[in-house]
Amino acid sequence: MRKVAVMGVGNVGSTVAHLIVDHADADELVLFDARKERLKAEVLDLQDAASLLDRHVTVSEGSFKEMADADVIISAIGRIDLIEPGGDRFTELRANKPSAEQLGKDLKAAGFKGVLIAITNPVDVITGIYQANLGLPANQVIGTGTYLDTARMKRVVAEKVNLDPRSIEGYVLGEHGDSQFVAWSTVRALGKSAEQLAEEFNFSLDDAEQAARQGGFDVFAGKHYTNVAIAHAAVSLMNLVLSDARRESIVSHYDKDLDSYISTPAVIGRQGIVADIDLDLPDSEYAKLKASAQTISEKTQANS
Ligand code: 2OP
Repeated sequence: MRKVAVMGVGNVGSTVAHLIVDHADADELVLFDARKERLKAEVLDLQDAASLLDRHVTVSEGSFKEMADADVIISAIGRIDLIEPGGDRFTELRANKPSAEQLGKDLKAAGFKGVLIAITNPVDVITGIYQANLGLPANQVIGTGTYLDTARMKRVVAEKVNLDPRSIEGYVLGEHGDSQFVAWSTVRALGKSAEQLAEEFNFSLDDAEQAARQGGFDVFAGKHYTNVAIAHAAVSLMNLVLSDARRESIVSHYDKDLDSYISTPAVIGRQGIVADIDLDLPDSEYAKLKASAQTISEKTQANS
């Protein structure tokens, strides 16, 4: 039996829950939220859909005891209402830090031993806070990080070269935030390098990188939150864990060389990260990764 839990049933968490129920990615889904009326309504709404779906998922509300034996817990708590248009995701740190600390402690006390996937921003720092308070090995606590930014980069490049975004290889690395960067050395499509594509299809790599970095804010500007793509990113990672896929992906996780939670590729399976990947980046790109780790550290100080 595949059991998952989602903490936080706001715009993001309710979309995550909807995807899980609609795809039947789990057999049992436990929802948690401090807002009891909202939680009851979300559970009831999903249960109302049950007779209209092809497959069964048992949906219930629960607390730490009910979440303790989940294979995967997704943290979708957050205070995106605190972010000003064009603001920074670190604005949420002061509000989300104590919540993540307490949830981590309570889950540890309840005996949670599964994999936690953090969406909560600033996700690199929050992932580290969860790991410290859950007391789980670092490989079992990951964040969506630049997985979504990488999807945004693929959308931007795909538009330029008239391809399906799934045909674009490569990664956005670093902070899930302004100091992220496209590792163009990893980007390929049509059997060509990023530089060859930019020349052949006449577009600027710098402009494409900025369009990807700005993607979340472009959605935020019109909706005042983002939910669909980030929910797919989290559910995609959840499925790699549940199926023990041992598939390469990109997640925020602890990088011992940089002493930072930051996004680089890793192999994802049942225990979360099951193997690290050394991208062997060119010096110029590795310097950007180090600078991004430094930015995360500085922003953490400034917003604590
Ligand atoms: C985003 O970029 C929610 O931070 C997430 O959409």
